[in-house]
Amino acid sequence: MAFEMVGVVGLGTMGAGIAEVFARAGIQVAGVEADEQALARGRAHLERSTGRALDKGKLTPAEREEILARVTLTTSRADLRDADLVIEAIPERMDVKAELFAELDRLCKPSTILATNTSSLPVTALAAATGRPDRVVGMHFFNPAPVMGLVEVVGTVVTDPGVRAEVGDLAVRLGKTPVEVDDRAGFVVNRLLLPYLNHAVTLLDHGVAGRDDIDNAMKLGVGLPMGPFHLLDLIGLDTAYEIMNVLFDESRSDRHVPSPLLRSYVAAGLLGRKSGRGFYGDP
Ligand code: CAA
Repeated sequence: MAFEMVGVVGLGTMGAGIAEVFARAGIQVAGVEADEQALARGRAHLERSTGRALDKGKLTPAEREEILARVTLTTSRADLRDADLVIEAIPERMDVKAELFAELDRLCKPSTILATNTSSLPVTALAAATGRPDRVVGMHFFNPAPVMGLVEVVGTVVTDPGVRAEVGDLAVRLGKTPVEVDDRAGFVVNRLLLPYLNHAVTLLDHGVAGRDDIDNAMKLGVGLPMGPFHLLDLIGLDTAYEIMNVLFDESRSDRHVPSPLLRSYVAAGLLGRKSGRGFYGDP
């Protein structure tokens, strides 16, 4: 498939980043949000991110304009009718996502591949909400999407292997490395990463070491770009908590019990960068 036009539904941090990745690869993008206010936030994300690249001399003003011009922002899902692929990046609510997939299935041409960027919900359940389960995949990007080099390509028991391969090739065209994963809780990255992050919160909770010392230990001792608390703030504490719950639901293993301290932060609305305060940030 040529992938000349793609749709991105949901232009939060992940959706806007994904739209930028497609536009940078020369692909036309229709970015869809629920209302004008959300659309304006999506536009601001795109302008900020490409503006930063411009300031650093990574893009010329003309290249930046071309990238932005490739993204059409709209509140009408009907504009996705002719997309070759639509990727969904809306909040992680199964009922809302399933409804969206059913609608995309009705709206889009029969050959459209429907993809989800979910990090915690079963792709199989979304496929089952459509009349084309063989053309539904997970296409899981990492935050920040324009920077991180991986895409997990998630296939279900009913995904057409050809579709999985086409989406893998598309990821390569985007400058990413695809890894093929089956539809199991957490896929590869979150299944390995989240128990580690959760464990860091347990160490803090038990007074084994302080926040900054744990972050420095993992940054300087292991060579990670960010310590666990900075990374939790980037991912979003609510997202991290949700993924731990999904891992626990599938495994019923003590290893996956979400930290009570993490739960408390989420209950208090301290969600990390998206809310202005998490483990870091001004009180
Ligand atoms: N959007 C676009 N570009 C960004 C960006 C953003 N939000 N944040 C950083 N960048 C770019 C910068 O412009 C810079 O680009 P150049 O090298 O071309 O100049 C580059 O990334 C490096 O940025 P900085 O120099 O500002 O900062 P840094 O060196 O500290 O790197 C980082 C920042 C890339 C975020 C780095 O700290 C890092 O890799 N952190 C780990 C991130 C990570 O693990 N992400 C995965 C989370 S798990 C997930 O997302 C899955 C899930 O389902 C929860």
